[in-house]
Amino acid sequence: MNQRIAVIGGTGDLGFGLALRWAQAGAEVLIGSRDEKKAQDAAQRVKDTLNSAALVSGLENTQACSQASVVVVAVPFSAQVGILKSIRDFLKDAILVDTTVPLAASFGGKATRVLGLWQGSAAAQARELVPPSTPVLSAFHNLSAEALQNLSATPDCDILVCGDDKLAKQTLFSLVKLIPGLRPIDAGPLEMSRIVESITALLISVNMRYRVHHSGIRITGLKPDAE
Ligand SMILES: NC(=O)c1ccc[n+]([C@@H]2O[C@H](COP(=O)([O-])OP(=O)(O)OC[C@H]3O[C@@H](n4cnc5c(N)ncnc54)[C@H](OP(=O)(O)O)[C@@H]3O)[C@@H](O)[C@H]2O)c1
Repeated sequence: MNQRIAVIGGTGDLGFGLALRWAQAGAEVLIGSRDEKKAQDAAQRVKDTLNSAALVSGLENTQACSQASVVVVAVPFSAQVGILKSIRDFLKDAILVDTTVPLAASFGGKATRVLGLWQGSAAAQARELVPPSTPVLSAFHNLSAEALQNLSATPDCDILVCGDDKLAKQTLFSLVKLIPGLRPIDAGPLEMSRIVESITALLISVNMRYRVHHSGIRITGLKPDAE
């Protein structure tokens, strides 16, 4: 089945990068925003950048969710709860993919520190906030938005996917593989997201020391055809 991907926060750094790359690969993308006009402008930017008739449109968040089979949430940690509450009644049969990293920077702290959450992770917090019937995955935490948006280079990163629904994971794996340079890795159940989210703080620390913006991770030792 062809997926229709809504990217909530698709006007922002990570969300726009994902929307751009998926549109470039020919996927149908709905950019979501709290402001419909802002979403439409971002969709137009994707079309202008790709110089093509990309299958991308801009909608208010709830409208985007209600039309999508996969909903990727790419908003700051400080906005995650509010955004999930605002969209949860519009998810229908969609898979929810949470990208949130609970960095202390979301509340004025250090970007190299991760906040401790009662639920264990931002993904577990998302799990609590959407209907039990909605499959929840977490992914893309360790991927640089800058690497996605720079179309003259190929991103170089494994995408650690956490979640408890095998079918949903297969669907997301196929979407990850649409983007050159990305390899999906099954990182285990959703509770593993706690560790994956914290790796982002480590990468930010590496970025600072090496004066780059796009360090990523690769898992070694797997068979060549491993997923
Ligand atoms: N940037 C990266 O390289 C990167 C990499 C991996 C993971 N992440 C994670 O991905 C998520 C998004 O990161 P980002 O850097 O793309 O964020 P961002 O650019 O700061 O914001 C993304 C979008 O979130 C929406 N949003 C909704 N509620 C908001 C609020 N209360 N305040 C501000 N924005 C709000 C905004 O869209 P509208 O105004 O259009 O609604 C905004 O464009 C974060 O949780 C981050 O930890 C980021």
